Amino acid sequence: MTQKILLTGASGGLGHRVLQKLREVDVFSICALVHRRPLKEGICKTIRADLLDPSSLLKAVEGCDTVLHMAALTHSNNEFEYFRVNFEGTENLITACQAKGVSRFIFVSSRSAQADGGAYAVSKLRAEEAVKASGLSWLILQPGECYGPGLNDPINRLAQSVQRWPFIPCISDENCKLSPIYVEDVVEAIVSAVKSDRVSQESLVLAGPESMTFEELVDSLCLHFKVNRRKIFLSLEILSVWASISSRFGIGTLVPDQIPRLLCKKPEYDPSTEEKIGFSPKNIEQGLKLLFP
Ligand SMILES: NC(=O)c1ccc[n+]([C@@H]2O[C@H](COP(=O)([O-])OP(=O)(O)OC[C@H]3O[C@@H](n4cnc5c(N)ncnc54)[C@H](OP(=O)(O)O)[C@@H]3O)[C@@H](O)[C@H]2O)c1
Repeated sequence: MTQKILLTGASGGLGHRVLQKLREVDVFSICALVHRRPLKEGICKTIRADLLDPSSLLKAVEGCDTVLHMAALTHSNNEFEYFRVNFEGTENLITACQAKGVSRFIFVSSRSAQADGGAYAVSKLRAEEAVKASGLSWLILQPGECYGPGLNDPINRLAQSVQRWPFIPCISDENCKLSPIYVEDVVEAIVSAVKSDRVSQESLVLAGPESMTFEELVDSLCLHFKVNRRKIFLSLEILSVWASISSRFGIGTLVPDQIPRLLCKKPEYDPSTEEKIGFSPKNIEQGLKLLFP
């Protein structure tokens, strides 16, 4: 039987990849919630709506079996906006699902959804709590730090810097632990989670199998590209000043809220996720070989 799925965040860096993969599944009929950025003409059925407009959400979820909620505010200088879009927006969507009898709600959160992870992290944590209290059949997916073809995420940019520059700025704080995850592994896991409707009422971490410091990540990149680079260790104070300046003048892509996000303690890869949704992520060596053959 055809399963009707509403996908939010379909124009996003991760969202548009998930949309492509979902379209390959015969039993799914996809409707993408479009906010500001349009999707390619004819790619799938679309409906224009806004997480902050409850009436638009009631129309969007009408007739759907499953909502895959990926829309979020991910990089902003306005802490209040994270709460509005990520927490209140998710609450609005849940309310619409309850009103229209949607049976399953899959929420793409983040492994940085922690109380000490800054405004984005706390907004995601509050949204997770709302999902768990919704009374719907729910599943929470918590991706780690994605990298892969076509992304402009921090790990991709770091890889480009290691290829180009003799000096590499490094975060010296040992609390900064990364679990880089190859983007296609996350996409496959999300699609597999949508297919596996027996998996519910739990949170699954979609992180890479390693937990590494920033310096260890730079070392892995140097090893892959067979280069030696001088590491320049930056204290948190310097990093914070840089984030404030770069975000204020639009000269970088680091916003101050990403610093606590990087430093908070996060859940790590759990091998039991393979049994549940077939998630078997590549390690950084395997991922880099695919990305930079
Ligand atoms: N990429 C990663 O490394 C990573 C890691 C952990 C977790 N995640 C989570 O994975 C999800 C997808 O990430 P992504 O990289 O695809 O994010 P993204 O590129 O920042 O895209 C965000 C999406 O949310 C939509 N959106 C924003 N505000 C909205 C609103 N008010 N109403 C409706 N839609 C709205 C955007 O649409 P418009 O552009 O049209 O506004 C866009 O489609 C997010 O929930 C993110 O928190 C991502």
